[in-house]
Amino acid sequence: MKKTDKPLGAHTRLLQSGRTNFGTSSDLVNPPIERASTILFERAEDLYSGKTRRHYGRIGTASQEALRAAIADLEGAADVVLTPSGLAACTMALLAVCTTSGRSKNPAHVLIADCVYGPTRAFCNDILGKQNGLEIEYFDPRIGAQIADKVRPETCAIFLESPGSLTFEISDLPVIAKVAQAHNIPTLIDNTWGAGWFLKPLALGIDYSIEAATKYHTGHSDVIMGAIAARDAKSAARINNYNRLTGMTVSPDDAYLVLRGMRTMGVRLDRQQQSALKIAKWLSARDEVVQVLHPALPEHPDHAIWKRDFDGAAGLFGVIFKPTSPQKINAFLDNLALFGLGFSWGGYESLAIPCDPQITRTAKPWDAPGPLVRFNIGLEDVDDLIGDIEQALAVLA
Ligand SMILES: Cc1ncc(COP(=O)(O)O)c(C=O)c1O
Repeated sequence: MKKTDKPLGAHTRLLQSGRTNFGTSSDLVNPPIERASTILFERAEDLYSGKTRRHYGRIGTASQEALRAAIADLEGAADVVLTPSGLAACTMALLAVCTTSGRSKNPAHVLIADCVYGPTRAFCNDILGKQNGLEIEYFDPRIGAQIADKVRPETCAIFLESPGSLTFEISDLPVIAKVAQAHNIPTLIDNTWGAGWFLKPLALGIDYSIEAATKYHTGHSDVIMGAIAARDAKSAARINNYNRLTGMTVSPDDAYLVLRGMRTMGVRLDRQQQSALKIAKWLSARDEVVQVLHPALPEHPDHAIWKRDFDGAAGLFGVIFKPTSPQKINAFLDNLALFGLGFSWGGYESLAIPCDPQITRTAKPWDAPGPLVRFNIGLEDVDDLIGDIEQALAVLA
């Protein structure tokens, strides 16, 4: 491909990134899917020369390398590691920093935002905490500069998820990153909602931006994958080494699909943003609703931070309904014709789930006045979606 020196817009960059040949002689637009364990060398002396990254299938071939480069470009990262799932990206990054930070004096201490994805929380409690003796402390995601009061000499990581993917609090990333840097503590964020498109955590001082690429990158609800983007050479070396030694890898076929999804992620997210905001505003005015949890609404408690740090809002938001029974909420969800009932989000299709069974809080109790339902807004016509919610709401009247 020809190169240009002119600065490019975000959509153009998303289409151009990762489109080098990575050791192949392909003239295709997209990278070839190279299935390989064994990669052959011409000469024996090259086998151990360490000259080429491309020396064994587990390290990755063309499609994995192209995807890593594309995500690195999107996130402004020094390097990217791919993992078999979004959860694996969260857990591997935590393991890498907690076991290699040099701070793991007994017992090491890990600070986790109270709003993190449930399985990430379960991993921290069980594997890090119960089985390996690390002390896990949860904190209010709105803690801001007071994170300084929680930091200890043995703190080995601060893990955030912003916004929380069920409860939608936004954390003050630059303030938390500054405190962490002053104490030399690695910071990590589950950036699945911002997707690297609406939020660039590394530019705000966070060390690792982690995503379930399963969601917006893939965009079609048919691949499970995660990515860890590292801010600088030092953080990249730590995660690369861990990845190399633990042997985590993803298939070339899956990497191909995620990269193909990424090429349209910008247009999908821009449209999902528009539709979600329209639906969120419409729901805010409904009698059945107490509060819509969408950071782009001016009445959201963290709207000012969202406006300062994010370039937009994804298609996932929550709605707190007036107190009603779980049976009525289920009847509302059953009445939806265009929204699927299913876990996950970020695909082209709209989804809805009741959230209360998933919410576990210990630092800051979740005391919503009514049941919480989460909507993933897809690419359907927005007025069709509003009409569908309107007819389904009849059971809550
Ligand atoms: C915020 C968040 N992080 C991580 C994950 C885990 O992703 P995966 O399903 O690819 O393991 C999910 C999945 O729903 C999620 O919602």
